[in-house]
Amino acid sequence: MDIVSIRDLSKGQIEEILDRSKEMVPYARGEKRIKALDGRVLANLFFEPSTRTRLSFESAANRLGARVIEVSHASTTSMMKGETLADTIRMVESYSDLIVLRHPHEGAARLAAHFSSKPVVNAGDGAGQHPTQTLLDLFTIREEKGAIEDMNVVIVGDLKYGRTVHSLAEALALFGAELTFVAPKTLQMPKETVEQVKRSGKRPRITTDIEEVISEADVLYVTRIQKERFPDATEYEKVAGIYRVDRSMLREAKKDLIVMHPLPRVDEIAPEVDYTDHARYFQQAFNGVPVRMALLMELLGGELDEGI
Ligand code: CP
Repeated sequence: MDIVSIRDLSKGQIEEILDRSKEMVPYARGEKRIKALDGRVLANLFFEPSTRTRLSFESAANRLGARVIEVSHASTTSMMKGETLADTIRMVESYSDLIVLRHPHEGAARLAAHFSSKPVVNAGDGAGQHPTQTLLDLFTIREEKGAIEDMNVVIVGDLKYGRTVHSLAEALALFGAELTFVAPKTLQMPKETVEQVKRSGKRPRITTDIEEVISEADVLYVTRIQKERFPDATEYEKVAGIYRVDRSMLREAKKDLIVMHPLPRVDEIAPEVDYTDHARYFQQAFNGVPVRMALLMELLGGELDEGI
């Protein structure tokens, strides 16, 4: 089984992973030990920078007793000699039991899945999708708010190039959340994602004005303007810094609003917000470990009773 898009998982499968993720928390914290994936090898192939996804997959594998082989930059591989991604994947599948791939090109994970007989997990493909981020985002909302259904989720920032929000919006709609998309007109959610949301019976509210919607939000999901994906630097300059969440903006918010961000952030959340009761983005980043542990267990057949 490959996880290229969040659509590769049914609602029931996602719920099972979220349930298993909760069981994984004490193992992710190192309070309990488990060797459920002893002897397994995870290949972490990262052809684009990453802190959280790469390290949390590595931490998850280590916590489960698996070993990790990795590429953290294309310049250290034979791709620099002209080897194709397809041939690289054919090699790596013979060295490992599961491949985690981050790549700057949308569709790269789908191509890798085509050439690999081992499971491929998309760790972000260009402006495409980031399904494991979505799993940890759903887990965070469920843990922090007690439910996903009927939550009023406001997603703000770069909705065009931000891959995390493409998979997240689809999943939130599937789970019955109410969605508001806040972005400059040039960076609004792609039509395909909006259509998928509508197929789940949800009609997202679309606006450019965060002040207009913040007071109704249960979850404020903030994203970075993806500078590296703009074909033209002047277009980036027009929208850089357009939204900045700070304490004064949050005065209008519900007391129990949670603020999330897939990270890294630049200036879209003021550091002063870190010290409010609203901030959940660091907890969210930690949640990547138990959620990815649960996913690895699911894909590689680990059992919880294989603790030590
Ligand atoms: N959220 C996320 O994908 O972070 P990294 O780019 O650091 O992996």
